Amino acid sequence: MNEKQLVGEKAAEFVKDGMVVGLGTGSTVYYTLKKLGRLVKEGLSIQGIPTSVQTEKLAKEFGIPLANFGEIEQIDVAIDGADEVDPNLNLTKGGGGALLREKIIANAAKQFIVVADSSKLVEKLGTFLLPVEVVPFGFSMTERYIRELGCSLEIRLKEGKPFVTDNGNYIFDCNFPDIPYPETLERKLNSIPGVVENGLFVGMTDMLVTLDENKNVMTKSC
Ligand code: A5P
Repeated sequence: MNEKQLVGEKAAEFVKDGMVVGLGTGSTVYYTLKKLGRLVKEGLSIQGIPTSVQTEKLAKEFGIPLANFGEIEQIDVAIDGADEVDPNLNLTKGGGGALLREKIIANAAKQFIVVADSSKLVEKLGTFLLPVEVVPFGFSMTERYIRELGCSLEIRLKEGKPFVTDNGNYIFDCNFPDIPYPETLERKLNSIPGVVENGLFVGMTDMLVTLDENKNVMTKSC
């Protein structure tokens, strides 16, 4: 079993009968979704809220019942992957472009569980290019203001055209040489008109499911 499968499946153990579950996006949480699908077939009763169109499709394929986000009162637990995890369990996310819905759902969940193989664990955030989602209107102007925060950046492309998120927006992948204060940068980015959200998830993680140096699955909580 590879690392992603080990941590992805472990996280499914924290989902209990009757829960409303935020379903993350990516190749690690894929294994959580697959395991949840199996548990549902064995009788587990849950409702999922997907963080992306891609995850919605997978949830349907695996037989996970979905709830209408507009109608539910609370999300009991959200499980999602990450691109980087620092020792304080702050994250960089959005490599798959789903950061906005992921952050809305993580924020709304009573418990936010992150699944990450050992390659995602870093001493300091910033090696992975930071995704920033912006509205297409005036995006060149927005780019200039983001650049003034001290990064170089590229618009994310797909087949030679700007990549469009599930929300109809663009993404800039930003190279900040160093992110010593993620909370401050998160706030500064989101205060730029035109920026919808950025991939820094600061102080949101309740539990990390990862592997220790002996490659045994372990959890770490804040
Ligand atoms: C999706 O936009 C991302 O935030 C993913 O959750 C993150 O990139 C982790 O994905 P993997 O599990 O595929 O590495």
